[in-house]
Amino acid sequence: MLGGSVDPAVLERVRGWRPYVEAKLGFRNHWYPAVFARELAENAPVEVMLLGERILLNRLDGVVYGIRNRCLHRGVRFSQRLECYKKGTITCWYHAFTYDWKDGTLVDIITNPNSALIGARKIQTYSVREAKGLIFVFVGDIDPPDLSADVPPGFLDEGMAINGKRRMVKSNWRLGVENGFDASHIFIHKHSKLVVRNDIALPLGFAPISAGDNTREVLGEPGPKGLYDLLGEKSIPVFEGAIGGEPVIEGNFGAKKVADNISIWLPGVLKVDPWPQEGMNQFEWYIPIDATTHCYLQTLGRMTASEEEAASFRREVDEKWVDLALDGFNDDDVWAREATEEFYGDDRGWIEERLFETDMAIVEWRKLASRHNRGIQRPEHL
Ligand code: FES
Ligand SMILES: [Fe+2]
Repeated sequence: MLGGSVDPAVLERVRGWRPYVEAKLGFRNHWYPAVFARELAENAPVEVMLLGERILLNRLDGVVYGIRNRCLHRGVRFSQRLECYKKGTITCWYHAFTYDWKDGTLVDIITNPNSALIGARKIQTYSVREAKGLIFVFVGDIDPPDLSADVPPGFLDEGMAINGKRRMVKSNWRLGVENGFDASHIFIHKHSKLVVRNDIALPLGFAPISAGDNTREVLGEPGPKGLYDLLGEKSIPVFEGAIGGEPVIEGNFGAKKVADNISIWLPGVLKVDPWPQEGMNQFEWYIPIDATTHCYLQTLGRMTASEEEAASFRREVDEKWVDLALDGFNDDDVWAREATEEFYGDDRGWIEERLFETDMAIVEWRKLASRHNRGIQRPEHL
C-alpha cells in the first residue's frame, strides 16, 4: 500500500502545522526532480513514482514527456511490458489501447479500430523540464509556475555546474528534510571521513544564544519560498562535549569553515553554502515516493566559466566527492532518517515528540510549508 492517510486523532491534536502533518505524500502542484537526465536515453521509457503517482517518462527526439503509467482501460501499468508500434505512441500490452506521448490522446485501439473511445479519451500527462542534468516533473493540476519557483536560489544560475546521485531511503520525506535542516544533528557526523580527511571544522552541536526564532524567511513572489537558519550567527558552537561538566568528547577542530548558510525551500530541498568546501554548494532534494519512502537526490554545484570547466567539475564530483561527501558524509543521514521512521511512521511521533531549543528552525519550516505549499497530495489523487 502507498499509504497517505493520516490518523485523524493525531490531526486533531496538531497545532500550528497541521497541513504539514497531512502532507504525508508530499505537496501537490510543485516541481520535483525525478531522475538524472543521463538515466533517460532516447525512446527507452523509465518508470518513476512521485508522491504515490506512477509516471512513465520517455525521451523522443531529445524531448522528455511524461504520462500516467496506468492504462485507462483496466488500469495496468504499461511498464510491465513496454510495447510501441509507431514512433510517438505507446500501446498497452493488454488490449492494445494506443496513446500519444505528447498529449495523452487515445489515438487508436489496435484490437478495435471502430471504437467510439478513439480520439475521445486522454491519459493524464505531466509537464516536464530538463535543467542542470535533471528531469523535473510537475505533479499537480494547476498551470505549472516557472521551475525557478521551486528550486533554491543559485541552482539555475548560468555557469552553475551540477552533478550528483540519487537513492531511495526508507523513511517519509519530511524526516529527510528535518534531518538535513536540523542544526544539532551534526552530532552524528563526528566521525565522518569527509570531516576528518578534509580538515573541516565541525562542532558537536549549537547552543542558541536566545530562545525563539533564529530564522529568516524568504517569501517573495513568484518564489522560491524558504527559510535560512541563522544559528551560525546566533549560537555558540559546542566543540567540547561534557556530561555534568566533565569532558567526554570533542568536535572536529578543522581549519576549513563551511556551511555558513543553510536554507530549506519548498517543496523540500536544502541548500548548504558552502559545502563540502569553499566555492561549492550542496543542493539536495527529499522527494516523496510513497508514505514510507523518499528519493534522496543529492547534487553538488560550482560556478564555472566554460563548458570544459563544467565538465571537469562534474568528473570531479564522480571521482572524488560522491565517495567522500555524498556517501562518506551523508550515509550517516540516511541511516538516521530510517531509524527515525519507526517513531513517526504511525503519525504519533508528530504529537509525542518533545522538541528542544535548536529545533525552532524546524518548527518555522513546518509553519512556512503549511502556509505556502500549493496543495496537499492525498490518497484520492492516486
Ligand atoms: S488494460 Fe490497457 S488496453 Fe486493456
Ligand atoms: Fe547531515
